[in-house]
Amino acid sequence: MSRHATVAPPVPAPVLSVVIPTFNEAANVEPMVDALARALEGISWEVIFVDDDSPDMTASIAKALGRLDVRIRCVHRLFRRGLAGACIEGILSSSAPYVAVIDGDGQHDESKLPAMLQILQSCDANLVIGSRYVGNGSAESLGGFREYVSRTANALIQRFLRVQVSDPVSGFFMLRREVFDAVAPRLSTVGFKILFDIIASSRGSLTISEIPYRFRAREYGASKFNTAIGLEFLGLLLSKISGNVVGPRFPIFVLVGSIGLVVHLVALRLFLNVFPDQFPWCQTLATFAAVAGNFVLNNMLTYRDRRLRGAAMLRGFGKFCLIAGTGAVSNVGVASWLYYQHSTWWISGVAGALLGALWNYVMFSEFVWRTRCI
Ligand code: GDD
Ligand code: MN
Repeated sequence: MSRHATVAPPVPAPVLSVVIPTFNEAANVEPMVDALARALEGISWEVIFVDDDSPDMTASIAKALGRLDVRIRCVHRLFRRGLAGACIEGILSSSAPYVAVIDGDGQHDESKLPAMLQILQSCDANLVIGSRYVGNGSAESLGGFREYVSRTANALIQRFLRVQVSDPVSGFFMLRREVFDAVAPRLSTVGFKILFDIIASSRGSLTISEIPYRFRAREYGASKFNTAIGLEFLGLLLSKISGNVVGPRFPIFVLVGSIGLVVHLVALRLFLNVFPDQFPWCQTLATFAAVAGNFVLNNMLTYRDRRLRGAAMLRGFGKFCLIAGTGAVSNVGVASWLYYQHSTWWISGVAGALLGALWNYVMFSEFVWRTRCI
C-alpha cells in the first residue's frame, strides 16, 4: 500500500463532479453554487466551472468562491471558445466516479441531480439524460422558435444517427466517468451539442435513462446560441453521419467557399457596370472581394472557436492570401493537365477545384487558424 493511502483525507473525495460550462455568467455563479448546495445536501460533491476567459470576469468570481470552499473549482481556458470543448475539459479534470453537466444560468433543474445519481448508482443505466421531451418535461421557456429548432435538431439526430432518446441535444446529463473516459478521444470539441456526440460515438454501448425536467427561464445574462452555432451543429451532424470521414468544419468550409463564388460573380457584375472595358481589372477586384469575403466568413463561422482579432487578423489575412494563391495555382495546373489528357471539361474543372479546396482547408487549419497550445 502506498504511503499516501495511510494518510486520512482531510475532506471526503467527491462522489459527484458537477461540470458547469460558462461564458459571461458572472451574475449566475453564486446562485448556481447555492442551488447545488441545497440540491445535493448529504451527497459528497464538487463543482467545476469551465470558463472561456469571459470578459465579465466569471472565472475570477468562481475562483474567489473557490478560496472559501474547497468544493468549488474553476478551469480557466485561454484562446478557446466552445461549449462542447469546455464540457470535455471539465469532465476530464474530474476524478469522481460520477460526473454531471449542467448549464450555469439556472435553466436546468438541479433538484433532479440526486435522482439521476441514484439511477447511476443502482446500475440501472450508465448515462442519465435530463429531458424536456418526456413525461411532464417542458421546453416552453426556450421560446417558440428555439423550441422548434431544438425539436428539429432532435428529429435529425434520431433519424440519421439512430439515436433513440427523446432529447439528444440536452445540455443536462450525468454519467459514469469511466464511460466518458472511454469515448472522450472520439469526441469533437466543435459546437454546442456534446450529448449526441457521446451517444453516437459510443456506438450503442450505453444504457440510457431519461428523466423529465422543465427548462426554466433565464434570470441574468443572455443565451450564447446563434446562427453560427446552428451551422456548427449541421457540420457535426454530417461529420457523424459520414463516420468521421469528413471533419465537422469541412461542410461549413465548403458552404463558405460557395458563398465566395456568388460574391465573386456579384462583384464582377458591379465592377463591369462601372468599368465596362476593363475586364482584367474587374476580375482582379472581384477576386480580391471574394478572397476577403471568404476570409471574414471563415473567421466568423468555420473557425469561430479560434477567431482572430486585431493584428493577428491582419497577419492571418496575409497568410490566407498566400495559401489561397498557391491553392489556385495547383488547381489550375491539375485541371489543365487533366483536360489535356482528354478528360471531360467539367471533370477537369471539378478535380482542380476540389484539390484547391482541400489544400486550402488543410493549410488554413495548420497555419492561419492554428490552435494555440498552452
Ligand atoms: N465555456 C463555455 N464556452 N461555455 C459556454 C460557451 C462557450 O463558448 N457558450 C455557452 N456556454 C455556457 C453558458 O454560459 C451556459 O452556462 C451554458 O453554456 C448554456 O449556454 P446558453 O447560451 O445558456 O444556451 P441555451 O440556453 O441557449 O441552450 C440550451 O438549450 C440547448 C438545447 O436546445 C442549453 O441547455 C444547451 O446546453 C442545449 O444544448
Ligand atoms: Mn441557457
